[in-house]
Order: sequence, then C-alpha cells, then structure tokens
Amino acid sequence: MTAGVPLHFNALSKRFGDVAAVKDLTFTVEPGRVTGFLGPNGAGKTTTMRMLLGLVTPTAGTATFDGIAYRDLPSPMTTVGAALEAASFHPGRSAFNHLAVYARAAAIPLEAARVALERVGLAEYGSRRVGGYSLGMRQRLGLAFALLGDPGVLVLDEPVNGLDPEGIKWTRGFLRHMADEGRTVMVSSHLLSEVAQSVDEVVVITHGELAHTGPLSSLDMTETREVLVDGPDRGSLQNALTEAGYLVSELRSGLLVSGAEASDVGHVAFAAGVELSALSQKRSGLEDSFLALVGEGGSL
Ligand SMILES: Nc1ncnc2c1ncn2[C@@H]1O[C@H](COP(=O)(O)OP(=O)(O)OP(=O)(O)O)[C@@H](O)[C@H]1O
Ligand SMILES: [Mg+2]
Repeated sequence: MTAGVPLHFNALSKRFGDVAAVKDLTFTVEPGRVTGFLGPNGAGKTTTMRMLLGLVTPTAGTATFDGIAYRDLPSPMTTVGAALEAASFHPGRSAFNHLAVYARAAAIPLEAARVALERVGLAEYGSRRVGGYSLGMRQRLGLAFALLGDPGVLVLDEPVNGLDPEGIKWTRGFLRHMADEGRTVMVSSHLLSEVAQSVDEVVVITHGELAHTGPLSSLDMTETREVLVDGPDRGSLQNALTEAGYLVSELRSGLLVSGAEASDVGHVAFAAGVELSALSQKRSGLEDSFLALVGEGGSL
C-alpha cells in the first residue's frame, strides 16, 4: 500500500454557466482518518470530488494530493482510488472480468483484481455476471475498483446510498479499516445519520460553500443531551430522577431525561435501588446541528 497523503482544497470554485456549484472551498482531509464530506443534494459534493480527480476543471483554486494535482501524479493508480456515483458495469460480464480489463490497461498484475474482490467480500461472486448483482454487491464492486492499485487515498462518493442496514454496517467497518491502515478516506453523503458512526472528521458544505469543518464531536453543538431510560417500576424511577433534579418526560418507550449523561442516570437509579430495563444516550443533537448548518436543503 502507498502511504496516505493529505488532500488540500484551496479556494476551489466551479461555475457551470450561471450555476455556482462550488464557491471558494478551503479545507484539508488528513490521512489515517475517515472524513465525511457532507451536504444536501446539489451542495457540490460530487463536483468537488471530480475536481480533485481531474474530471472537472476548476474555475478557480486547486485541489491537490499533498500539493500535486491529479494530472501531475507520477502514479495515479497507487495514489488514489475513487468510486464515484453512477458507476456503470456491463451486465453480461463478471466482476473479475471488469477488474481484470482495467488492471491490464493500467499494467497492474491480475492478482490485484482477486485481492480487491476479496477485500470487499466479493471473492466467491467474482465469476458471476454483474447483471445479477444486488445494489449492495454493485457498490462493493465499485469499492473493489477503487482498491485495484492499493492506493493511499480513497475518494468515495455516497458509498452507502441505497444500502440496507447490513450493507451500511459492513461499509462502516470497511472505511474504518482503510483509515486504520493509514489511508486518507474521504466519503461523501447527503445524510449525516448514514455516516455519523463511521467518520472521525466532518466537512459540511451547503450551496457550494463551506459551512463547517472539524471533528465529528464539533457538530454536537446544540447540547441537547438526552437519556432514554425505563424500568419495571417506571413510577419509582421517575420519582428518583425528579428528586435528583432532572427534567423527566414520559414517552411510550420510556422516560426521557433532559440534559443528562447515561452514566448519571444509571447512578441515580442504582442509588435509589430501582431496577432498569433500558438505558441509552440519545444523540439527536448531532442531526439537529447538521440540519441547522445546511438549512432547507440544496440548490437542485
Ligand atoms: N455538468 C454540469 N453542468 C451543469 N450543472 C452542473 C453540472 N454538474 C453539477 N451541476 C450543478 O452543480 C450543483 C452541484 O451539483 P453536485 O452534483 O456537485 O452536488 P452534490 O452535492 O453531489 O449533490 P447530490 O447529493 O445530489 O449528489 C447542482 O446545482 C448541479 O445541478
Ligand atoms: Mg453527488
């Protein structure tokens, strides 16, 4: 594997006629981390990624791999692997055949195609026609393509779009593993909730402009920390929490405790000798922060 490098986006802008798709974007994506590139539909995510990959020419500014533009990379295949939206595969050909053709053209040993299929869990389906693949398998084939050159940077456009919970969970593990190996992982999504559990850093854009950048925890600004708790004797539990000074409201699924940490709620119950059947921290503040940043959606 080639070492991951930082991605530098510097005053990057793109205009399509009257449409200012990307406006003066400046941020860095670091290796060894999973960075979520977030924004509503039409925010400019795909356009930004395509500029990094040399597929769209910026109107102004630069997007580079540690200072080197894509077209100047001495070895693009080993520097970066990408899976962009709307990847199309010939339905009549097998996954292995797709990868092999590509590998041959790029003078990469055929063995790399087998390894890439294995890494995305498609090894046993490699000889099957892609026409019979599920959406999840197709997404994984896209990831296998990105991995062909065993690159240090992965640029993935909406890799969990349309996946079922199992597929999303698998992708999370995959992204984590890739970053732990030292790769730079940039992954876009229009839904924070789909990637919140797998990203370390977030870059949020809306209407082509940077809205926020920082660690995932920096998004959790609303501080609406809530705990959902329940027990066989809900009344006693509610009394104990109220006496401890918490604001408690009753929902069908249990008691909602505002401004609390799960560990504190657990302690109150323990000290009062009240049994618990459920205790969980609610992180709704994260999605609320995201929505507050991106407003009412994109410019589609
Ligand atoms: N080739 C193009 N010609 C004209 N306008 C374009 C082109 N590509 C993108 N746009 C416009 O640029 C804006 C940003 O589009 P982009 O696809 O980058 O957004 P996105 O964040 O990827 O959205 P989505 O979540 O829907 O994929 C949109 O208004 C879009 O219509
Ligand atoms: Mg897009």
